[in-house]
Amino acid sequence: MKKILVINGPNLNMLGKRKEEHYGRLTLDMICDSMTTLASDLDMSLTFVQYNGEGEIIDCIHSGMDYDGLIINAGAYTHYSYAISDALEILSIPKIEVHLSNIHARESFRSQSVIARSCTGQISGFKESSYILALYALRDLLKD
Ligand code: DQA
Repeated sequence: MKKILVINGPNLNMLGKRKEEHYGRLTLDMICDSMTTLASDLDMSLTFVQYNGEGEIIDCIHSGMDYDGLIINAGAYTHYSYAISDALEILSIPKIEVHLSNIHARESFRSQSVIARSCTGQISGFKESSYILALYALRDLLKD
């Protein structure tokens, strides 16, 4: 069984109350539940964390050494946190950057991801399905 760490950053605890056109209607708990359901079919165990603070996210990424893969939605930190990018760079496991909204089709500041250089790939714009697609990507990347 592959161990996957799923990190959600600032304001993602408020899903369900954020702009539906960008983020959909589901709460973070609902997204985590549908990921857990799929994970059992994919023989994966998921650990979910959500932090609003940059330092907590960095500490959590450091604990990623114990996992086989990582999924991260760093929220707005995506666009300017070199510290999160540097923390991700340390980990040699596959890392998938996810976004509910299409960050390339919104305000110009969102189209830059400073964490993309430290991730295996990016999935953006499929609302809650972005997380589901990330699980399939990790399933393929972690095939023995
Ligand atoms: C987000 C996109 C970011 O620009 C924004 O700050 C978020 C969520 C997304 O999932 O679409 O909080 O990462």
